[in-house]
Amino acid sequence: MRLAILGAGDVGRSVADLASEYGHEVVAIADSSDAAVDPSGIDVERTLERKVGNEPVGTAAPEDVFETEYDVLIEATPTTLDDAEPGFTHTKRALEADRHVVLANKGPVAERYGELRALEAESAGSIRFEATVGGAIPVLSTIEDSTPQAVTTVRGVLNGTANFILTRMAAEGLDYEHVLAEAQDLGVAEADPTFDVDGTDAALKFVILANVLSDGGFSLSDATVEGIQNIPGSALDLAAEDGRTIRLIGEATRESVRVGPRLVPENGALAVTGTRNIVQIETRHAGSLASSGRGAGGPETATAVLSDVGRLPTR
Ligand code: HSE
Repeated sequence: MRLAILGAGDVGRSVADLASEYGHEVVAIADSSDAAVDPSGIDVERTLERKVGNEPVGTAAPEDVFETEYDVLIEATPTTLDDAEPGFTHTKRALEADRHVVLANKGPVAERYGELRALEAESAGSIRFEATVGGAIPVLSTIEDSTPQAVTTVRGVLNGTANFILTRMAAEGLDYEHVLAEAQDLGVAEADPTFDVDGTDAALKFVILANVLSDGGFSLSDATVEGIQNIPGSALDLAAEDGRTIRLIGEATRESVRVGPRLVPENGALAVTGTRNIVQIETRHAGSLASSGRGAGGPETATAVLSDVGRLPTR
């Protein structure tokens, strides 16, 4: 497949780096905001380097990408809330041109799922978005393989930053502020980790899961969300006395989306440590399926993007 990548952050770059291993060709890559486009597809790496050095390459940005000959648009611009722009419009334009779209951007899938599916129904292209939930862990493809109707609940830990903070607080008896600063120093947390610690990032992922289970209807405003910012170190100490710990747990069903700190058994499956994620999928006929692994990171998320590309029908 010929890939056009919008978004030249960790995920977009990793897709560009790994595409050839999966048998695909990158024909264009653009930063979401301005330049960095190489429509010839010959020198993606140089394009990115020059962009990083703040020397724009090419004449313009996303506009040029849409003018290249491509099969799949990779939408890897930063997640935005509410109208989910510009990711939604990028996706719309590609579908209207009968191209496939693989999203790593959570915004359009969480906030405008019904509209996306309506656009897809009118297009010869399809959308896929495994990378929006749980990084490298195959969550959506597992649900797809089980059929969404047979899944009742999806539960788990889908934010690595919050999990890292809670793990360190419990293990070292440290306070939230201290561990957050440490996570930022280590590059685990973003410079602005607000969405990680206030539960928004995890909630977007569980909203996407609820949309898949119910075929639409949910957005972030429907989710009940509580973050980890107000958990005192003493709460983790008390939990430990009882063989338990605290994790930021989310749950999606056809009726609701909830994310918040919950007490879980210290040695139980949900008490994953560090930046790991875990997902438990409850099915009607086959009990509980579980997988855990790396839920974030450029190469990890790019792996999910490229496995989605491999699942697309040939146009
Ligand atoms: N920042 C997220 C995490 C990954 O810490 O898990 C992107 O959704």
